[in-house]
This record gives sequence, C-alpha cells and structure tokens, in this order.
Amino acid sequence: MSASTAASAAYIVAGLLFVLSLAGLSRHETAKAGNAYGMAGMAVALVATVGLAWRNGNALSVGLIVVAMVLGAVIGIWRARIVEMTGMPELIALLHSFVGLAAVLVGWNGYLSVEGAPAGEAEELGLPVGIHSAEVAIGVFIGAVTFTGSIVAFLKLSGRIRSNPLVLPGKNALNVGALAAFAVLTVVFVVSPGLAVLSGLTVLALALGWHLVASIGGGDMPVVVSMLNSYSGWAAAASGFLLDNDLLIVTGALVGSSGAYLSYIMCQAMNRSFLSVIAGGFGNEGATAASGDVDGEHTEVTAEEVAQLLRDADSVVITPGYGMAVAHAQNAVAELTRTLSDKGVDVRFGIHPVAGRLPGHMNVLLAEARVPYDVVLEMDEINDDLAKTDVVLVIGANDTVNPAAAEDPASPIAGMPVLHVWDAGHVVVFKRSMSTGYAGVQNPLFFRENTRMLFGDARERVEDILRAL
Ligand code: TAP
Repeated sequence: MSASTAASAAYIVAGLLFVLSLAGLSRHETAKAGNAYGMAGMAVALVATVGLAWRNGNALSVGLIVVAMVLGAVIGIWRARIVEMTGMPELIALLHSFVGLAAVLVGWNGYLSVEGAPAGEAEELGLPVGIHSAEVAIGVFIGAVTFTGSIVAFLKLSGRIRSNPLVLPGKNALNVGALAAFAVLTVVFVVSPGLAVLSGLTVLALALGWHLVASIGGGDMPVVVSMLNSYSGWAAAASGFLLDNDLLIVTGALVGSSGAYLSYIMCQAMNRSFLSVIAGGFGNEGATAASGDVDGEHTEVTAEEVAQLLRDADSVVITPGYGMAVAHAQNAVAELTRTLSDKGVDVRFGIHPVAGRLPGHMNVLLAEARVPYDVVLEMDEINDDLAKTDVVLVIGANDTVNPAAAEDPASPIAGMPVLHVWDAGHVVVFKRSMSTGYAGVQNPLFFRENTRMLFGDARERVEDILRAL
C-alpha cells in the first residue's frame, strides 16, 4: 500500500471518528465519549499527516510540523488547565480567530506559491489557475472575516470592550457594499491575479468581519459565537481545497454545518432572525442599548428576611445566571435546595437557554454540584408555573429575567424569550449592585413591587441564608 493510500484510509477513519464525536457531544450522557472520539480522530489525523510528510521525504516539513505540534500542545494544555469556566467563551472565540488566521495564511501561501511564483509553477498545479485563484480569494475572505470577527467577539466576551452594538450610519449599506466589492475583487483576481487585488480583498474582509460582529448587541452574542464557530469550519474547508487535503475539507464542512445548525437553533430559542444576525444585526437599527433609562425605587432585603420568606413558602423556583458562575455559588445553591426540600418545600430550577456565557453553562454547574436532573427544567417547561410559585430566587441572572424583553418593543433585547419571574408571589434578586446585565440594558424587574434586592456576592448571601435557616 502506498503512503498516500494509507494516509487516505487514516483520514477516512479520522473523519468517521469526528462524526461519532459530534453525535456524542449532542447529549449530556454521551458527551465524554464524544470528546474521546474527537481526540482519537485528531491523533489519527496528526499521525497520518506527519507520516505522509515523512514518506514524501520532506524532513524540514516534518521538523516544522513536530515543533508546531509540541508548542501548540504545551500552550493548549496550559490554557485548558488554568481557564475558569466563566472564561471558556472568550477562549473559544480566540481559538476560532486562529483558524481564521490560518486560512488567510494558507490562502496567501497558495497565491505566492502558484499565481505569484515564477512562470512554470502554475502548470504543475493540475487544475486551471482560475479555479485556484477563486479558491485563494474565497479562502482568504472567509478566513479574514472569521479572524477579526472572532477577535471582536473575544474582546466583547472578556469585557475588554463594551458589548453594546456599534451603530455606524448606513451600517447595512456598508455590509452590502463590502460583499459587492468582494465579488468584484474576486472576479478581477481570477481574471488577473495580483498582489494588490489580494491585499485589497484581505483588508476588506478584515474590516467586514470586525464590523459584522461589532454591530451585534450583547444579547445576540451567543448566536454570534456559534456563527463564528461555523465560519471557522468553512475557513478550514477552504484551506482543505487549497492544500488538497480531503480530511480538512470533510472536518471543516462538519464544523461549518453543525455550527450553522446550532446558530439556527439558538436563533429560534431567542426569537431572532438567523439572517439578521449573520448580516450584523440587519433590521435592528432602531434598538440601541440604553442602560440608564429605567428609574424607580428598589427595595433591599436581608438574608434573614429571605430565610423567613423561604420558610413560609410551599414552592420555590431558582433561576441562576452568569453571576452564579462568577460567585462559584453552585454548591451553596445545591445545599440550599436540599435544605428546603428536606423541609417539604417544592424547589425547582428554571434554566434560560442562554443563561451564563456558554450553551448549557448552568446545567453543567448544577450537575457538578449534584443537583438532580429532574428538578432542573428548561425555560419553556417552567414559565407557565411561575405565576403559581411563592418565591423565585434570581441568583446572578439579569438579561434572562428582564421584563423589558417581553414588554418594551424599543428595547435592544425586545422579543427575546425570558423567564417570567415577575409573575411569582415574591422575587429575590441576588447581585452585587444595580448594574446592568451583559446586554447593557437596565432591568425594570428590580423596581417591581414584589421584588427584593439581596446585595452582595451570591455565594456569601446563599450561605448566610443557609445559616439563618
Ligand atoms: P447577565 O445578564 O450576564 O447578568 C449577570 C448578573 O450577575 C449581573 O447583573 C451581575 O450583577 C451579577 N453578578 C456577577 N457576579 C456576581 C456575584 N459574584 N454575585 C452575585 N451576582 C453577580 O446574566 P444572564 O441572565 O445569565 O444572561 C446571560 C447574558 O449573556 C445574556 O445577555 C446572553 O445573551 C449573554 N451571552 C450568553 C451566552 C450563552 S451561550 N449562554 C454567550 C454569550 C453571551 P452585579 O455586577 O451587580 O453583581
């Protein structure tokens, strides 16, 4: 068997392992096995790629690949070990940016080694130069949009820049103009490939990626992150065409299509238009984040008073959010759940699909704290019961319980389904200040008559309640 046949066979095995990995990752119970399949697939792919380069007699390539692999593995293991759960989304966004950058570099390398190389190289290509040029243009475009889009997502998710949407005058016209310019530049590049055209195309795509994600408000960031995941897959597939690597094409297409499907599901869950989000908030020009436009008096409460409220309650619903993750309050919350259940109180959880900063963020934390699955309900399963609930404890959640989404059509998060906690008898909000949530929108819930604010770190306050109980 020739080395390339063996590598192709290994690539098929790796591709199948990646399919099994995706299937496993779609359910809690099989997620660990899914991870294992993915790691095994990547190991097979790496060994096959290095082995092929070795058999082709390119010692320098093998040396460079091995050095890159060792460096990447050391940095990857180090980051994975120290990253906090709350820091995962920005780390993922940063990793997407690397895929985008790699696609740009592969595209440029493709141009420099074929169209831009001394005469004669192009003939060895085995396919018309025009097709190769189109692959270069498309690969560089997708890669550059992914690169800067992911950098902006990283900056927004890590709080380095504000999550409010950037609203440039005529922003939709700018995006449509950039797409039209890309089409024109691609045709020009295919007809007459040149350094200036490729440079222009790269700069245009970098600017478009930045603008598309900067124009999205905080409330839509979950969709953007999964969308960038999808783009990174297509960028990898484009690199696969340029490098003539079947596995990269298959893997890129798997990531691209599963990311697109996840984005679609999230758009449905958040009542957002898929097309509007990928077009940089197309159609949302009217809604701008206004953080200080809700006024009123809020009422504070002490941990002892909350304990009394809970003692008198028959039914309690806990709606956790990002603040529970920041405070590492999940174990104290689980303890509170057990204590109340032992006293005969019916305690359940209501989980919003985008609570926290990762899909399934709250479910993971509650599972880690050994809260039984059967009391953890999705938003749609619990919303109708909230009006019959005595006390709702909002632990570090904000945007996901904001009535403005349901009641104020001018709100930047208007139309996003939220937990209707304000329908309950009493609402206790655990947070440290009156500041806004991730979307930068003030929350009228805090000023409602049946709402009490319990200020301080969520874990400390829950522990205070436990002591009082
Ligand atoms: P957020 O709206 O992010 O609000 C979290 C609240 O927790 C803040 O109001 C904060 O108020 C409070 N908090 C922070 N640290 C705390 C601590 N140690 N103790 C007590 N409270 C603390 O939360 P959410 O309701 O979970 O909404 C999630 C938001 O993130 C949505 O806008 C969503 O679109 C976005 N997002 C979600 C995802 C995914 S996939 N889940 C990804 C990206 C973005 P203080 O500062 O006053 O304490």
